[in-house]
Amino acid sequence: MKVTVAKNAGFCFGVERAVNRAYEEASKSDKPIYTYGPIIHNEQVVEDLEQKGIKVVNSLEELSKKEIGTVIIRSHGVSKNVYTKIEEMGMNIVDVTCPFVKKIHKIVEEESSNGKIIVIVGNDIHPEVEGIKGWVNGKSYVVNSEEDINKLNIPLDKEICIVSQTTFNYNKFQYLVEIIEKKGYYINVVNTICNATHLRQVEARKVSSSVDAMIVIGGKHSSNTQKLYEICKNECKNTYYIQTVEDLDLCELKTIESIGITAGASTPNNIIEEVHTICQK
Ligand code: F3S
Repeated sequence: MKVTVAKNAGFCFGVERAVNRAYEEASKSDKPIYTYGPIIHNEQVVEDLEQKGIKVVNSLEELSKKEIGTVIIRSHGVSKNVYTKIEEMGMNIVDVTCPFVKKIHKIVEEESSNGKIIVIVGNDIHPEVEGIKGWVNGKSYVVNSEEDINKLNIPLDKEICIVSQTTFNYNKFQYLVEIIEKKGYYINVVNTICNATHLRQVEARKVSSSVDAMIVIGGKHSSNTQKLYEICKNECKNTYYIQTVEDLDLCELKTIESIGITAGASTPNNIIEEVHTICQK
């Protein structure tokens, strides 16, 4: 059987970097280690790290009650205030904010200091957006729809700097930017969308269109994995959505000649490897 694993399957660069660093810290530190929020939305990885001594804390209050140690800031990043408060607690910070997110922090900090009003296109309650808002000097606005834009009460003589959440859909971003522009604002748009998700989807489409069966690996509640599954199913009717190698029905795959594998953004490499190995047998 010919097996093709998509190159962009699984972790993106930023998540891989964060998870690797957490394991590295676990192996070298004898002081307590915490992650500020789960390092990744994958229970197995979070549990495995916990067994290696890394605990998840979800708020400053919770952290303030803990013994002094190291705090890992995950790829989503945090606000300037959270960062400062953690430092003030005397904790050692290991900052693995994705460099693409860091870039947004820098942009909004600089542009807002220069008097621009910051508009973030994204999901207001997503941790990444929470973090970005916390680097703005002054007020910022988050928009996710035309309705949100209609509610903006920014004077027309103010200059606006627009950035986006890294995982936002590009077409929707363009559409919302046009609406803001048509209102007559003077805008400076910085497209801060990361193309990791887009690349994963494009490649999944390509691989699934050329194989007899396609396997999509990821959590059942992972929206980016569900999207990958839809894309692959459209191209290949024998598409299987599995969480781990145990979900794989090997009898069904016996007569298949070529198989493709992709995985959602929070699927660790070892799970992809296990599936790959078993398909090759
Ligand atoms: Fe991942 Fe960083 Fe992009 S965390 S999705 S590589 S912004």
